[in-house]
Amino acid sequence: MAARFCGVLVLVAVFLSGLNASRPALNQELSNLFNELWRLDVNRMTPGTDYTISVQGRASFVSQGSHVVQDHATQPLFSNVNETKLKTTTTTSRFMKLLDNYERSTGVTERVTTEEQTEINLFLDAVLQTEVMKRTHKYLVSKGQSSADLRLFKSQLNSIWFNLYRRQRNTGLDSCGFEHVFVGETKSGTEIIGFHNWIQFYLQEKNSFLDYKGYKARERDLPDQDDHVLNLQFSWHNLVKPVGSAFIGTSPEFEMALFTIVFLINTDRSTTVLVNIDQCQMELVVIRHGRFLGTAYPKLLSSNSRHIRQHAR
Ligand SMILES: *[C@@H]1O[C@H](CO)[C@@H](O)[C@H](O)[C@H]1NC(C)=O
Repeated sequence: MAARFCGVLVLVAVFLSGLNASRPALNQELSNLFNELWRLDVNRMTPGTDYTISVQGRASFVSQGSHVVQDHATQPLFSNVNETKLKTTTTTSRFMKLLDNYERSTGVTERVTTEEQTEINLFLDAVLQTEVMKRTHKYLVSKGQSSADLRLFKSQLNSIWFNLYRRQRNTGLDSCGFEHVFVGETKSGTEIIGFHNWIQFYLQEKNSFLDYKGYKARERDLPDQDDHVLNLQFSWHNLVKPVGSAFIGTSPEFEMALFTIVFLINTDRSTTVLVNIDQCQMELVVIRHGRFLGTAYPKLLSSNSRHIRQHAR
């Protein structure tokens, strides 16, 4: 009995060290900062009160570009969201106004009207007023990455997230970081790219443009209704995202703050940081597109403090 028990332990150890080998070490400084931002995020919605999700079944494997997908979730992901709260919270209400400003398909030139430029300005003004973004600004100034001048910081955010660039060759300026991450895009009529925001997910699902297919998680790490990060599968305008990931319930300023910090802490094309935030362990991935943000998303590794319980054993 004892021998078998040890055998299991060895297998677990090999498995864990194998996982660690391909993963960056925990970034303690950013974990501390992001937990501070988490506590400052008063605009985060509370699960079970402000919204309810239903994760349902585990999604099956689908290859990128495939349209064939089994539905392991007959109900929507969002059973209920308090839209009054979304509309009366300044940052989320201004955020929602930006969601219809973009051409879904890459290769189609974006045109930003003066009205849309005003919407972006108002959104950034609201974001800059939050404690989350004030703390972020202070941190970035202390690291020499941002100017203490609020107007310059605003134009830095504007440039990183809203400056239009070309994602596809031989076309006009068809994309920007905000569109990719918060709105989502389609490519060559075959795949969904980006799309990592829960409010957009909810609104698209409500309007029947999006169909949730099930969650993606490891065997022993089942998601539940309180999770603030999910890996999930869905279809959107009849295209399939085999594995998407998003924060759930968080404010747009919180998501923007995290990804802006990761974007600015180094100049590599692709950056992955491992952080613990609240009860979750996750990787934050940021990929740049020249001087602008190409994509950014969280990748859930462990929820409900499983990584902490494992260490304590
Ligand atoms: C929805 O949110 C608003 C604003 O925060 C609040 O006044 C209202 O009571 C909430 N509604 C429900 C059903 O919880």
